[in-house]
Amino acid sequence: MVCMEVLKLWIKGCSIIVLDVPLLFEAKIDKWTKPIVVIWVDPETELQRLMTRDGSMEEEAKSRINAQMSLDLKRSKADIVIDNTSSLEALHGQFQ
Ligand SMILES: *[C@@H]1O[C@H](CO)[C@@H](O)[C@H](O)[C@H]1NC(C)=O
Repeated sequence: MVCMEVLKLWIKGCSIIVLDVPLLFEAKIDKWTKPIVVIWVDPETELQRLMTRDGSMEEEAKSRINAQMSLDLKRSKADIVIDNTSSLEALHGQFQ
């Protein structure tokens, strides 16, 4: 579990711990993390990429997306937003 791992690292003396948690807000872990970085794409791009990744139909992909908090809402809760609508190179640039 995430909490145990974080605790172990904290006891070891780590002062910076990076968590990669897709459902950070849904699991309410965001209360304990700072800063929060959200990788954002517009809803249309999100849908297209999910369908390509999973080979799923539009309705199926939409219901998976709708089961999560929207990226627009996540973006509003973030400290840092990285826009991933264009290429992977552009993403790397923003990350740097
Ligand atoms: C960013 O978008 C690319 C597709 O261009 C995708 O492969 C990658 O997983 C995305 N990165 C993140 C962190 O969401």
